[in-house]
Amino acid sequence: MNRSWNRRQFVLAGGAAATAAVTAKSWINPTSVKAATFTRMDVGNLTAASSQITSYAKAITAMKALPSTDPRSWSYQAAIHGTTAPCPCLTSWNTCEHGTEFFWSWHRMYLYYFEKIVRRMSGDYGWALPYWNWQLASESQLPSMFRDKTSPLYTVNRDANMNSGSGSLPPGDVNCSFALGDLAFTSAVEDIQNPHGNVHEDVGGWMANIQTSAQDPIFYFHHSNVDRLWDIWLAQGGGRSDPTGDATWKGKTYTFFDENGTAVTMNDCDVLRAAQQLNYTYQNEPAQVNEYCVIRIKIPPWLLQEVIVFDWPLPGPGPVEVNSDRLSVPVELGDKIKDIQAVAASKTDKLIVVLDSVQVDTQPGVTYQVYLGLPEGDEPTTKSPYYLGTFSMFGMGIKDQGPHGSMPATFRFPAGPAVTALLKENRKPSLTIVPSGILIDGKPSKPKAKAPLHIGAIRFSKRTEARAPISKVQPKP
Ligand code: C2O
Repeated sequence: MNRSWNRRQFVLAGGAAATAAVTAKSWINPTSVKAATFTRMDVGNLTAASSQITSYAKAITAMKALPSTDPRSWSYQAAIHGTTAPCPCLTSWNTCEHGTEFFWSWHRMYLYYFEKIVRRMSGDYGWALPYWNWQLASESQLPSMFRDKTSPLYTVNRDANMNSGSGSLPPGDVNCSFALGDLAFTSAVEDIQNPHGNVHEDVGGWMANIQTSAQDPIFYFHHSNVDRLWDIWLAQGGGRSDPTGDATWKGKTYTFFDENGTAVTMNDCDVLRAAQQLNYTYQNEPAQVNEYCVIRIKIPPWLLQEVIVFDWPLPGPGPVEVNSDRLSVPVELGDKIKDIQAVAASKTDKLIVVLDSVQVDTQPGVTYQVYLGLPEGDEPTTKSPYYLGTFSMFGMGIKDQGPHGSMPATFRFPAGPAVTALLKENRKPSLTIVPSGILIDGKPSKPKAKAPLHIGAIRFSKRTEARAPISKVQPKP
C-alpha cells in the first residue's frame, strides 16, 4: 500500500470538488489502489536461467510463430515502432515518437502492452520486462544472454563486437547527467534522447535504425531503462513535473494492441503514475512521483525559454560537412564575448551549444563526440574539460528513412564550463566533432562513417527555466 498516496488523494479530492473538472475516466477509485504487482528487474541481476529471461525467450518464439497480420506477432509489434515494409500500413505501424515531447510517454505505452503480450505468449503471468542499466560500467556490454547464439534473444543483426562481448558502450555515450539536470520536462525529454540514441547506434545493425530497431529483443530492455529514467528524473524533485497542464501533450491518443490482439487506446494522462495506473515499479528505483492530469496543481508550469546568444558564421556557404575525420570549426566571438561569458557564469541560466538542421543521407554508422575549445594537438578524450557530449543519428535527420525518420535533427549540449575554461586561457572557441564508435577490448574504435554528416547551423543559446507567474494558473476560488 502506498501510504503517501492516501493523504494526497484526500487533498486532491478537495481540490477536485472545488474545480468540478473531474472526468470519470481519469479519476481513481481509492479502493483500487494497491501496491504494484510487477517489478521490472535490472538485467545485471539476472542470469540466462532466470524466469524473466527464459519466459522472454519462450514468448519471442511464440510471437514469431504467429501470422504477421496478428498484432501480437513479433513482426507486427516491431512494425508499430517502425517498419521498412511498404504501405498501405496496418493499424498503428510507424507510430513511434522521436524528437518530440511524446518520446517518453509513447514508449511507456508501447512497452506496457508489449509486456502484457509477452505474459500471455509465455504463460508466465508474473513476468515483468527487465531493464538494461547501461549507465553502469558493469553493464556496458550487451547483456550476456543476448549474446548466446542459440538463444531467441540473439540476432546477427548487430555490431559484431557488441555481439561477441569484446565491444562495450563508451562512458560518454551513456551519460545522462545533462538530461537529468534539466528542470523543464521539454528539455529533459529532448536531452534524454541523446544517450538513448547513442545506445541504439552502438548496438548497431537493426538497433541503429528506427524502422528495424524493435525487431531486436534488446530493444525492449533498452527502453525499459529509458522509461525508468523518466521516473528517476521526476524523483529528483526540484520542481520537476510532467506537463499535465499542456493540452497538446494530454490530447493525443495512440492505439496499441492488448494480449488478446484487441485494439486499445491510451493518452499521456493514462501513463503518469506507473505503479498506480500500470502496475509496475523498477527494482531499486526511488519512490515514484505521482502526477495527475485532472487536478489543477497549484504549482505553475516551467516556462522554458531559449534565446540565441550567438549564431556562428559557418566557414562555407553550405552546411558544415563531417566525414570520418575529426573536424574543427573555429569562431570569432567579437563583441558577443561578454554576453557569452555572462551566461556561462550564470547560476540560473545555462549556456548551450546547439547543433541545428543536422542531416545525413543514410545511417553513418558512427557516433559523434562534441568538444568546445579542444586544443588542436590534443587527443580527444571524454575526460577532457572541453568535452561536451556525444550524439548519434537515430530516428531523426536520416534522409532515406521516410517522413518518419528524416526530419532534421537538433542536438544540445551544456557549454558553460568549457567556455569559462577556454576564455580564462584566452583562447578562441572552436567546435570539434570527432566521429567515434564503441570501445573494443576497452579501447576506442575508429569506425569509418558511411555518409557525411551535415550541420546547418551552430549557435550558443541561453536556456532559462523559470516558473510561470503563479496568478495565471491558479484556479479561481
Ligand atoms: Cu523509438 Cu529507442 O526508439
